[in-house]
Amino acid sequence: MSLTLDPIHLGAVRMDLPHLNGPLPGPRARAAIARDAQVVSPSYTRSYPLVAQKGEGAMVEDVDGNRFLDFSAGIAVVAAGHCHPKVVEAIQQQAARLIHMSGTDFYYEELIALAEALNRIAPGDTAWRVSFGNSGAEAVEGALKLARYATGRDKIIAFLGSFHGRTMGALSLTSRRAVQRAGFGPFIPGVVHAPYAYCYRCPYGQKPDTCAVECVQHIENTLLKTISPAQETAAIVVEPVQGEGGYIVPPQKFHDELARVAHENGILLVFDEVQSGMGRTGKMWAADHFRITPDVFAVAKGIASGMPLGATVARAELMTWPPGAHASTFGGNPVSCAAALATIALLERGLVDNAARMGAYLMDRMREWPARFPIVGDVRGLGLMLGFELVRDQATKEKAPAMRDRIEELAFERGLLVLGAGDSTLRLSPPLVITRDQCDFALDTLEGCLTKVISEA
Ligand SMILES: Cc1ncc(COP(=O)(O)O)c(C=O)c1O
Repeated sequence: MSLTLDPIHLGAVRMDLPHLNGPLPGPRARAAIARDAQVVSPSYTRSYPLVAQKGEGAMVEDVDGNRFLDFSAGIAVVAAGHCHPKVVEAIQQQAARLIHMSGTDFYYEELIALAEALNRIAPGDTAWRVSFGNSGAEAVEGALKLARYATGRDKIIAFLGSFHGRTMGALSLTSRRAVQRAGFGPFIPGVVHAPYAYCYRCPYGQKPDTCAVECVQHIENTLLKTISPAQETAAIVVEPVQGEGGYIVPPQKFHDELARVAHENGILLVFDEVQSGMGRTGKMWAADHFRITPDVFAVAKGIASGMPLGATVARAELMTWPPGAHASTFGGNPVSCAAALATIALLERGLVDNAARMGAYLMDRMREWPARFPIVGDVRGLGLMLGFELVRDQATKEKAPAMRDRIEELAFERGLLVLGAGDSTLRLSPPLVITRDQCDFALDTLEGCLTKVISEA
């Protein structure tokens, strides 16, 4: 199916390419950044001075009229693109009818319809129940609380390099960067971290083809027999594809072994699909690639194409907590639910397929990069969750964060928005509406940036 032929998907969505009016940031952007510096939390990480004013499809325009191609999608959020007409229409109609009622105390049909839709598209063939929140962190908090409640156990195994959010429970699992945790302890007790299957930098010095999945052996043979006894361990919480940690795709056997260990020990397998879900990987869920049905999964980011919404989705037989045990005033807000229903319709009617197709198209050329550019150590990803890791030397794999940051900055100056992930990786996470021309622009731009950074070294 060709995406461009179906008006439902793209309709009035613009498919044009970047246009810059002059040096960046322009005068209005500079003024906004100066005001921001006075009043906004300095904890925000702004990689470059983009002051967004409007967005359409995969294009973002700044306050000075510069137009950028957005390969960040607002950190992997705007699944159907910026302001997709169908999503905007759903939001406008819902906002004119009912903005809020609180699904915790009253009923409304949009929340029920979304829980039904999630049931329909969820991985595997099982019945699910859904608890709604407003963000990824909240979706993870819900999963944590449910895992403890449903098992009567308190310990949780998470992974090094993971990112699950910044509220205290989710932050106790997050282990991506010291700055995210420093000064905020103590964290919730009972959480231990295991190495992730980061095969490019295997913590056990193994090769993916021949390894014995030592990272899961560590859980089974060490953690569950020492500091996180199996009978006290409620859940293993894992990103099926690690996002903020560097867009790391583990091998099938990692997930197979993890599922086996969880199952054999009565431990719940919790997938954090906040970044990898909602079609980003070219299938609805990363879980679908690995043919694993988790016990619980967390969803947010792409679910409502930019409206705040999170969902903790659990096997129906697990979500038996009583009225009052868990809820959120705004969680599952009707406007966010309407945006999510419109997004899911678009995903099912072609955008997930487009993510698979455009992802393959990008990967075809990116796969050649390690041979063409000596500073590209690894290229990896699924669908439109793609990353390439910068190294100072392909043999030693010495990380090159400064080069990564420089590429990010150069790309911005050339009209392409990309973000880093991990210590030394650049991620490509465009809206799922991107076209071939836009992919070509991104590839040409990044290749130009790589060449420039090599010449500067
Ligand atoms: C895998 C994953 N889980 C949870 C979160 C937290 O989501 P939020 O920032 O909406 O709280 C993120 C955010 O990047 C994420 O990538």
